[in-house]
Amino acid sequence: MRIALLPGDGIGPEITREAQRVLEALAIPGLVFEEALVGGAAYKAVGHPLPPETLNIARRADAILFGSVGDPECDALDRHLRPEQAILGLRKALTLFSNLRPARVYPGLVDASALRPEVASRIDLLIVRELNGDVYFGEKGMRTTPTGAREGYDIMSYNEDEVRRIAHSGFRAAQARRGKLCSVDKANVLETSQLWRDVVVELSAEYPDVTLSHMYVDNAAMQLVRDPGQFDVIVTGNLFGDILSDLASMCVGSIGLLASASLDAQGKGLYEPIHGSAPDIAGQGKANPLATILSAAMMLRFSLGLPDEADRIERAVEAALNGGARTADLGGSLSTAAMGDAVLAAL
Ligand code: NAD
Ligand code: IPM
Ligand code: MN
Repeated sequence: MRIALLPGDGIGPEITREAQRVLEALAIPGLVFEEALVGGAAYKAVGHPLPPETLNIARRADAILFGSVGDPECDALDRHLRPEQAILGLRKALTLFSNLRPARVYPGLVDASALRPEVASRIDLLIVRELNGDVYFGEKGMRTTPTGAREGYDIMSYNEDEVRRIAHSGFRAAQARRGKLCSVDKANVLETSQLWRDVVVELSAEYPDVTLSHMYVDNAAMQLVRDPGQFDVIVTGNLFGDILSDLASMCVGSIGLLASASLDAQGKGLYEPIHGSAPDIAGQGKANPLATILSAAMMLRFSLGLPDEADRIERAVEAALNGGARTADLGGSLSTAAMGDAVLAAL
């Protein structure tokens, strides 16, 4: 079992180190890591955020464990050379179209939520975010209007095949959970969303055991704060899913808690926290490594066929939190490594 380990930028190396320690503590026979440069770190070393060597390592791995990319020093580069292109490029090149972002409240952590305890304690939802299309991957550019004004544009589009495959992911996820699927779109304004909604409705005939509802994205943002307990599975497009998952993280308590899996049709996956490289705290040993550790658990479950080991990691995280382990984002003072130690001790 070959893991491509891509730490990336900012807090990426700090958090992936803790996830690697946890994986190594499980002493899984045959598990090996192959580390590679990605993001701004790769650009600075070899001139490209996703070097061919890194893409090859990712391709031949059984799973990819990813930290984060993004470096303020690279923000003025041509877009194709920016660190963020590395993660977008991996998602596209490996057809990782189905992004699972679970959000649930840990009993001992209700106080960390930005919401009132009685509202926060009910959160147990999964955002299924499309990852290969939408405004992210449409034609984009800068042009000049006839009057000489600068104009930026990014084309938003989805074809029905793209919607169908992510809708299947959403319906199947709902079947495996509480049987409720909420499709989030902006069909009152966008043609892209009208097609999305039509295709989801067509497909629902194949899933009579799933209760389907629809919600506009602006209302969904409001409902996630008002009553997040109403949601089981949310299926949505690339841009809306990006925004709603950061929002959901603060309902849970911190963006440092939310893990994700990005899967292709065969179950090959890239696993990463939903947060970024956090340049404001990078290099200070302050970052919460739990989102990355929980991403490693998802990797064991979804790509490596090791559900018991995944459970062990998740239980250890829960035990560490119940024991009072808190990094700064959770109102505590543990360092990144000390949080890793707490999980290892519980393991
Ligand atoms: P961010 O998620 O990096 O940080 C937002 C805020 O959350 C910051 O205050 C940060 O300190 C905090 N935070 C994030 N992760 C944390 C953790 N594990 N523990 C404690 N606090 C944490 O978002 P941003 O500041 O908008 O973006 C910074 C860079 O990261 C940008 O270059 C952006 O493009 C990139 N980014 C990358 C990814 C990715 O690699 N998948 C995701 C999001 C953003
Ligand atoms: C995420 C990030 C990425 C996204 C960026 C870094 C390209 O915000 O993984 O949520 O927008 O998908
Ligand atoms: Mn994001």
